Amino acid sequence: MTTYQFPKDFMWGAAASGIQTEGSTNKANPSIWDLWFQQSPERFYREISSDVVCDTYHKYQDDVRLMKQVGMNSFRTSIQWTRLIKDFETGEVCPDAVDFYHRYFDEMIENGIEPMINLYHFDMPAELQETYGGFESKLVVEKFVQYAVKAFELFGHKIKYWITFNEPIVPVEGGYLYDFHYPCKRDGKLAVQVGYNTILAHAQAVHAYKQLQAQNKVAADGQIGVVLNLTPSYTRNDSEEDKKAAWYADLLFNRSFLDPMVKNEFPAELCDVLKAQNILPETSPEEIDEICSAKVDFLGVNYYVPRRVKAREAEYELDYFTPEVYFENYVNPEGRFNPFRDNNEILPVAIYDIAKNVQDNYGNLPWYIAEIGIAMDEESEGKADETGYIDDSFRTDLMKEHLVQLHRAMEEGSNCFGVHQWTFIDNWSWLNSFKRRYGFYRLDLETGNRIPKKHGLWFKQLSETGQFDY
Ligand code: FCB
Repeated sequence: MTTYQFPKDFMWGAAASGIQTEGSTNKANPSIWDLWFQQSPERFYREISSDVVCDTYHKYQDDVRLMKQVGMNSFRTSIQWTRLIKDFETGEVCPDAVDFYHRYFDEMIENGIEPMINLYHFDMPAELQETYGGFESKLVVEKFVQYAVKAFELFGHKIKYWITFNEPIVPVEGGYLYDFHYPCKRDGKLAVQVGYNTILAHAQAVHAYKQLQAQNKVAADGQIGVVLNLTPSYTRNDSEEDKKAAWYADLLFNRSFLDPMVKNEFPAELCDVLKAQNILPETSPEEIDEICSAKVDFLGVNYYVPRRVKAREAEYELDYFTPEVYFENYVNPEGRFNPFRDNNEILPVAIYDIAKNVQDNYGNLPWYIAEIGIAMDEESEGKADETGYIDDSFRTDLMKEHLVQLHRAMEEGSNCFGVHQWTFIDNWSWLNSFKRRYGFYRLDLETGNRIPKKHGLWFKQLSETGQFDY
């Protein structure tokens, strides 16, 4: 048995997002998720929409108490663009939303929970998608920055950690390549434009924030960053062909966002690929300058499952570009899989590999695990026992294994400042709705009650002592 000790001021907490938790009460405008659900409810697991969520809008005070009970010292959620902004043409804010977010953030701060606030978690306003094509359009980039500035001005004196985007590649994949987000298009060129415009929106928001900071309009010690899902690509074998396949997967899925957003450069090889595929985005020299000078203060990394690839064997059959032109996905027959949910592969060493990549190739920038989640379904978690707790020790064991890898990287100098579990209370997750449970607390969908899971007891001890044995 070894004791793994983490730094004293380490951030221990959880992540969620506005749309996945708040509920629809008094929301000023629909997002693409409301629109899509209206059009095609059958695409959502058990036809549950994002209206039916944790009702944080009403329950935030009790929930902040629950955060403390599992030892959280920090929490990431997001402001909903569709809640804060009442009128997308004028940028007028909704007073009820301003009031709600102030009360919610104050409640956290008064209880010693550091809020980390994200501006965009897949939740494009429906009106901006339908009128302008969402991030297909540079006008919507401007509208995003207008919204970001409003958020900074309103809450920037109390929020110390800002995040521009959560997993910005995911709406590109889901909305423009693989049909799991609205607008469900399949168009490689458009996908690249949306990706580029999102990076531009991020860069302009970072510049706007730093400008407000220079004018003393937000907290002097405030920081801004981005949260990326970075999954290393592991190969089937050591052949040159497989290594090349992994290199392409890494270029297209990781470096495509990580390099411009964190290193402030576009990989030349990425530009070559996009050129060869005839899908280069429309850019301007001024925009490129903005992107290449928008310095983030920190990086958040989400990790769930590893990516496995092999060299292409079958011919590429789609009539539009996807990254799979350059590789095929691969299931490792010797892999270890999560028996409790969809056979997700379990590979704790990926955390070490991610940490070393940030350390060695991205200037050892301060970073944190912004989401790590162990999925289980409600049936396999089971019901609460006589102590009132649900036994999810499977989750605790896996979390330990992942943290051992993080600890190893930190011993070797990785600049990690925290770990946030996905998630605090089981919440609504896109097309999967409530299929996968991840929370410290079960959400009972019938009653709205929060039921504690044993893992939370372990997490409390971890955050209080900064250590665990394994
Ligand atoms: C991540 C998302 C988050 C949640 C988890 C399960 O990719 O950031 O919103 O749905 O997956």
